[in-house]
Amino acid sequence: MTHSLVINNLRCEYLVNPLGIDVKTPRLSWIIDSDERGQCQTAYRIVASSKKDLLDNNKGDLWDTEKVLSNQTIHISYDGTPLKSKMCCYWKVMVWDKNDIPSEWSQSAMWTMGLLHDSDWKAKWIGLPPIKEPINIEDRERKYYSSPLIRKSFSIEKPIKNAFIYVTALGHYELFLNGKRIGDHILAPEWTDYTKRVQYQTYEVSNFIIKGENVIGAVLGDGWYRGNLGPGSDIPHTCYGENLRLILQMSVELSDGSIKEILSESDWKISKEGPIRMSDHFIGEIYDAQKEKLGWNAPRYNDSNWSNVIVDESINIELVAQLNEPIRIVKEITPVSINEIKPEVFIFDLGQNIAGWCKIRVNSSLCEPDATITLRHAEMLNEDGTLYVDNLRDAKATDKFILNGNDTREFNPHFTYHGFQFVEVTGLKMGVKPDLNFLIGCVISSDCKVVGEFESSDATLNILWNNILWTQRDNLISIPTDCPQRDERMGWMGDAQVFCQTSIYNMGMGAFYTKWIQDIRDCQREDGMFPIYVPYPPVYKEITNEQFGAAAWSDCGLILPWKLYLNYKDKRIINMHYNSAKKFVDFIHSRNKSLLWLRSTGMHYGDWLNGDTIISEDYPRIGATIPFRIFATAYFANSASILSKMASVLGLEEDSIKYSNLAKQIRDKFTKRYVKETGRITGDTQAGYALALHFNLIPEDLRPKLARKMVEGIERYEGRLSTGFCSTLPLMLELTKAGYNEKAYKLMFSRRFPSWFFMIDQGATTMWEHWDSFIKGRGFYDTKMNSFNHYSIGSIGEWIFRVILGINLDENRPGYNHIIIKPMPGDPLTWAKGCYESIHGQIIINWDIENRIFNLEVSIPTNTTATVYLPAESVENTYENEKPIQESKEIKISSYENKTLCLEINSGKYFFKTSYPN
Ligand code: BGC
Repeated sequence: MTHSLVINNLRCEYLVNPLGIDVKTPRLSWIIDSDERGQCQTAYRIVASSKKDLLDNNKGDLWDTEKVLSNQTIHISYDGTPLKSKMCCYWKVMVWDKNDIPSEWSQSAMWTMGLLHDSDWKAKWIGLPPIKEPINIEDRERKYYSSPLIRKSFSIEKPIKNAFIYVTALGHYELFLNGKRIGDHILAPEWTDYTKRVQYQTYEVSNFIIKGENVIGAVLGDGWYRGNLGPGSDIPHTCYGENLRLILQMSVELSDGSIKEILSESDWKISKEGPIRMSDHFIGEIYDAQKEKLGWNAPRYNDSNWSNVIVDESINIELVAQLNEPIRIVKEITPVSINEIKPEVFIFDLGQNIAGWCKIRVNSSLCEPDATITLRHAEMLNEDGTLYVDNLRDAKATDKFILNGNDTREFNPHFTYHGFQFVEVTGLKMGVKPDLNFLIGCVISSDCKVVGEFESSDATLNILWNNILWTQRDNLISIPTDCPQRDERMGWMGDAQVFCQTSIYNMGMGAFYTKWIQDIRDCQREDGMFPIYVPYPPVYKEITNEQFGAAAWSDCGLILPWKLYLNYKDKRIINMHYNSAKKFVDFIHSRNKSLLWLRSTGMHYGDWLNGDTIISEDYPRIGATIPFRIFATAYFANSASILSKMASVLGLEEDSIKYSNLAKQIRDKFTKRYVKETGRITGDTQAGYALALHFNLIPEDLRPKLARKMVEGIERYEGRLSTGFCSTLPLMLELTKAGYNEKAYKLMFSRRFPSWFFMIDQGATTMWEHWDSFIKGRGFYDTKMNSFNHYSIGSIGEWIFRVILGINLDENRPGYNHIIIKPMPGDPLTWAKGCYESIHGQIIINWDIENRIFNLEVSIPTNTTATVYLPAESVENTYENEKPIQESKEIKISSYENKTLCLEINSGKYFFKTSYPN
């Protein structure tokens, strides 16, 4: 029998074979592939076993669903024997196709459970005695400390079956077992609101255990917990705590079935002087090889002069399993050039702006045995070839390596990272010239899978797409940061919400955002207000003006979970988040009974960095800022409407009606107050029209008038944009939607300032914070706020996917169960292709236009359906696979209007050909 369906990409809670999860009923997903059109799943059977060999024999001692009649392939909640802490679960799945023919079993996958109950944690928080002089949180002249080393020797005499470590720290840790680094996580345990929770990590270490003496070693670093934090120099450092702490629990199953546990406690040894002399995300790291303790993290090391750790009983923080992909080194980059700008001062150019750090390779021909090699990092160069560091503000971005001897060795920092393209290296031997292999740029990022691809006939557009992806990569550092270089790097909510759909087209963001949405809830204020960035260290409330409640920033607390639902059909996130979302909307409502969002609780940013903030001479400055009350009210209506839809997903009909009425009342008020019969909106800004259209604030019959006004607004700017962070993407999408697609293409492909291509023409390899962050001849924007790695205006990635490739989700059938394919070509493109690996599988688009013949190849994942909109001169001239479309039995023509042919297709590959309308 031939099996028409193949099962791939088994995931548990969005992750491939996750270790140590603490979701008690984890959700399982897979995709199915088939060459056959219209194939689908009609039933599935999942088996889950506690042992691999049982699973190999198709035995599900934990769970056997038997044959379930269902086409569901995502988020199927485990419903077998209740899962216990530390359990290993192996699973696989088979499915039945539309003819009830069974597939082969999938490959097997697995997950393990973490420590589910507080009482499972028998280990203690350990570290150095508390720092005596409490660090004054308002004191910028802070002290830095050496990274302590912690070790524990223990013996294993019997053969083992397996061994797992559950570990986390307040601060960062790097972990070793018998001298070998455990795991490849960078900056673990990542950033959460440490006053509420910290994530622990689980590592399988079965292969690291040896017979006899074994040694666990851990190094701690300051990180987000004790180090400097943003968003700028008026904010203090050390927002969470002064004492670095470790908690570790290791569980070894011996061959006789007995369990040996190694727990962090008072008999572990600590040395406060290690080779990492200081580390800080903003400042950098100093590594002194002369202070290394050879063999400290391996057996047979004499630790008799080390102290015992202290046990810190004061810590009462919830330990939760890591939900998201860890930060890893995701790429290594060899520099493209070296320039000796002064004797012995070398500038390496990576050719790409990245987040991460450099690994250097030293040897006796390059370095004196006790040399100090200093690396300074920057995103740009000054005209004289020196590093441009003014935009780093208080971040020093400097790593130092003090060598110890003549050996050829590699060094890299551990507990810091920088945003940079250029590296200045000093400290090499007089007269030597390093080559390109002296250093490697290590790109760090939360390791979310790249799921989107794009290519077109326009080389600059391809660079733009690549730059957007890079900017995303550089700013996924545990949370979505605004930038990776200056003394900021915060999870700014406004930036995140405008970019989130683009980010989802580019990478698998389910796990990453699930974690960050939890962070958002953790930081929500009692009264319901969401902050402007997340995590929001609670001490900030005491020492700064509380920064909660800016429209578009706080609203991220609704927009993001809703996007997660739409893209991944993740109902659980809505369930978990609903009360928070409701509290937020109720709070804004309670303070703004008039239904216009006039009162807030903190600072407003409005349509941040709009045309009024441009400092380039060559730009009409005629009023780009959308009045705040209009901006905020638009977001209020949008949030109320999202809340109503969330309620409906959860079956809360009363709430759904209540908030849909609220949204309608806000919209009516908005129209009454701010919109004239002519379509003019108070302020008459591009942004005002874009947001009113985008959030559906106005009656249908006014839409064309507003769209016309929006176009006039662009004309007043000589055909240029005046929009800011929040309105640029809406403007582009609404131009296309309202029938001004050629105008959107004009803006997209414009090389005139301000534009995306202009930025690329200035040398950008990532997205910049300002359209004019740097202009050849003019130089840099001001130094206070000038990031070269800021994704907000990269939100155009969404327009590229939705309009050029035409890949759209259907809000009524979320999770790409049903897909809307609507490519809308425009000048100067002659072809475009790309794909998006949705939660249901790969969607592929490939179109070209030649001599007015439009060819479109579409591939839709098995078990999904799509509506395809084809620009077509006539129905008669349209073919699929060389056959007249009207003759195709597999394609349903649902309409032909305005030279657009609307087709319904089932899964599979299709080749359309039609004459392109004039
Ligand atoms: C950040 C932004 C952020 C803004 C708030 C800036 O410093 O870099 O991207 O959204 O502040 O308006």
